[in-house]
Amino acid sequence: MIKFKNKLEKNSQEIDRFLDTYLPSGNGLNSKLFEAMRYSSISGGKKIRAYLVLESGRFISAVNNKTLSKSKYNELIAVGSAIEAIHSYSLIHDDLPAMDNSPIRRGKAANHIKFDHHTAILAGDGLLSWAFQIIGDRNFISSSEKRSEICFILAKAIGPKGMVGGQQADMDYAKHKSIDLGQIEWIQNHKTGALISCCSHVASVLLNASDEQKSNLINYANHIGLAFQIADDLLDLVGNEFSMGKPIRQDIKNETPNFVTILGKEKAIKKALEESSKAINLIQKFKQESESLVSLAKYTVNRNK
Ligand code: IPE
Ligand code: IPE
Ligand code: MG
Ligand code: MG
Ligand code: MG
Repeated sequence: MIKFKNKLEKNSQEIDRFLDTYLPSGNGLNSKLFEAMRYSSISGGKKIRAYLVLESGRFISAVNNKTLSKSKYNELIAVGSAIEAIHSYSLIHDDLPAMDNSPIRRGKAANHIKFDHHTAILAGDGLLSWAFQIIGDRNFISSSEKRSEICFILAKAIGPKGMVGGQQADMDYAKHKSIDLGQIEWIQNHKTGALISCCSHVASVLLNASDEQKSNLINYANHIGLAFQIADDLLDLVGNEFSMGKPIRQDIKNETPNFVTILGKEKAIKKALEESSKAINLIQKFKQESESLVSLAKYTVNRNK
């Protein structure tokens, strides 16, 4: 686990370097927007989505007996950074008073508290658009076909039939609306799972994975996505605010239904562990090559932040 955490940390530094280099900064009339975009995306967060992009890419190379070239590595880092910018946008908006109304994120004031509401909305919009600018840029991804395929996959994953649709349902079904376990799973798979599974999908495209490799990896990431959100819901109940860098008991305050509120803590833990095992089973036959993705699946449910 120490080896895994070191790798995750190294990946996070690499993504921060990319964001720091390419996110806009400056002193113009819009400098507050740039500051707010940088505030909520650079140096903060676990960056597990970018890690999943990179490690999915490494996994595909390894099982095909290839070494990951420097240019492919750079492409994976660019796409991982764009995905982290999108994730940061989703968190800025998620914390707004109109949504979860949460004042702290990643151990510091949420974007709308540090700046103001209009800046938080626009910083989210800015990060989202910037991400697509990076993916559409031939300086970062050389093949035009891959650029357009990744744009399509990503837009679909985070759009109305993906993350944003999940966030809509998450808000609409809060506060004592009747909802069953299947519907909760649908919400979790959309609001969180869609972007996580997209990470393995885009890496498969960049590395020319076979159809079988691609579908295995996407399935792996689907299970990780669900396990990850259930673990987040558990941490919301029993986690430590200091290590998590965000307030606990937000779901109780907002009456947001989830696996923990419906099933109770023990059954939710069991479900998260089952999802993590299912993810591991899909890739474990590739012993050495899958080590890093197996560690991620374990970390997803054993983390304290
Ligand atoms: C938090 O995501 C929101 C969820 C989808 C559960 P992370 O737990 O990945 O947050 P950061 O990026 O590490 O802050
Ligand atoms: C957020 O889920 C999911 C997205 C932002 C897409 P949560 O609302 O549970 O995330 P936290 O707990 O605020 O990080
Ligand atoms: Mg939320
Ligand atoms: Mg929230
Ligand atoms: Mg949560």
